[in-house]
Amino acid sequence: MNNPGRVNASSYIEWAKLRSQAKFNLATSGVIPYLIADLPVTIEDIELSGLSLYGYEPLQRALARKCKVEPHSVVAAIGTSMANYLAMAAVLAPGDDVVIESPAYDPLIGIAGFLGASVRRFERRMDDGFCVDPDGVERAVTNATRLIVLTNLHNPTGALTDNDTLLKIGEIARGVGARVLVDEVYLEALFDEAPLSSVHLGNEFIATGSLTKAYGLSGIRCGWILAEPDLAKRMWRLNDLFGNIPAHPAERLSVIALANLERIGARAQALLKKNRVMINQFLDSREDLEVVRPRFGTVVAPRVLRGSADQLCELLREKYATSVVPGRYFDMPAHIRVGFGCDSEMLAGGLDRLGAALDELRRRS
Ligand SMILES: Cc1ncc(COP(=O)(O)O)c(C=O)c1O
Repeated sequence: MNNPGRVNASSYIEWAKLRSQAKFNLATSGVIPYLIADLPVTIEDIELSGLSLYGYEPLQRALARKCKVEPHSVVAAIGTSMANYLAMAAVLAPGDDVVIESPAYDPLIGIAGFLGASVRRFERRMDDGFCVDPDGVERAVTNATRLIVLTNLHNPTGALTDNDTLLKIGEIARGVGARVLVDEVYLEALFDEAPLSSVHLGNEFIATGSLTKAYGLSGIRCGWILAEPDLAKRMWRLNDLFGNIPAHPAERLSVIALANLERIGARAQALLKKNRVMINQFLDSREDLEVVRPRFGTVVAPRVLRGSADQLCELLREKYATSVVPGRYFDMPAHIRVGFGCDSEMLAGGLDRLGAALDELRRRS
C-alpha cells in the first residue's frame, strides 16, 4: 500500500507536461531542439545493441574528458532528472535531514520527500541577487543533515554561485558529515566561460548535469553524475534497481553529440546572445516587473509588481496564447519565470503579449 504521507509526484512537472504548451511558449528553460539531421550520423552509428554494463565505455570516456575527471568518477544517467534521483538516493536514508535552496526546482524537493528525508530550506533572497548565503545554509544545517542541495545556475533565477561560496558550503557540509549536491544542468549554458564542475572542489561534492538544456539535446537523455569513485560505484549499483541499462542508440548518439559539442554549443550561444538582447530590452521597458538579471543562462524570474503573478499567467494563457511559469511552482508566488532559449520569433511574439497582458492588468487595477 502507498504511504499516504509520502511525496509521490511533482505538481510542477505535471504542469510543465500538460499545461505549459502555448503558441508562444516562454515556459521552457532549454534552447530549441537540435536536429539529428544536423549531426554527422549514419544508420550504423545508432546500432541497437552493444556492451553497456556499468556504462558504455566510449560514453564514459567522452563524459570524463568533457568534465575533466577520471571515468570511474562518472555515472551516466537518464538526464539530470535520473542523475539527481540516484545522487540523492545514494546519500539519503529515511529520517535524514536534507537542506535545499528556496526557491527550488520542485523535483529536488519531491525526491527528498519520496526518500523519507526531512527537508529544511535556506533562502536565496532577491535583495541579495538570489545568491547563496553560507550563513543561511549554516542556520538550516543540523547534525542529521546528510545533504545540501543547490542548483548552479539557479533555477528559476539564473544566478551563478562562485567557487568561493561553494567552498564555504563544502566546509559546512564537512562539519556535519554531509555532502553537497550541485545540479549543474544550467552551468552548461556558460559554454566556454563555464568554470570547472564543483566536483573538483572536494570529495563532499556531487555534481549532476546533462546535455538537455544548453544544447537542445533533451531527446538523447545524456545525463551524468560526477562523484568520488566509491560513491559513484554505489550509484551504479543503485541504478541496477532502476534504469539498469540505457537505450543503446541513445548512448551512441550521446558519444557523437559530445564529439560535436563545440558546433552544437555555437548554435545555442548565438541564439541566446540574440535572445538576451530582446529580453533585456523588454525588461528595460517595464516598470511593473522587478528583476535580477542573470549574466548567463536561459531563464529570468521577474517579480510582478501590479496584480498577482497567477492572475497574469492565467490572462496570458487565456487571451494571449502565451505561457510563462507561475512562480508558485518554485515557492516564489509573486514571480514568473520567463525562458528565452526558444526560437527568436516566438520570443518576440511572447514578449509583446506579455507586455500587453501587463498593460491590461494595469488598466484593471
Ligand atoms: C534544475 C534542473 N535539473 C534537472 C532538470 C531536468 O533535466 P533533464 O531533462 O536533463 O532530465 C531540469 C529541467 O527543467 C532542471 O531545471
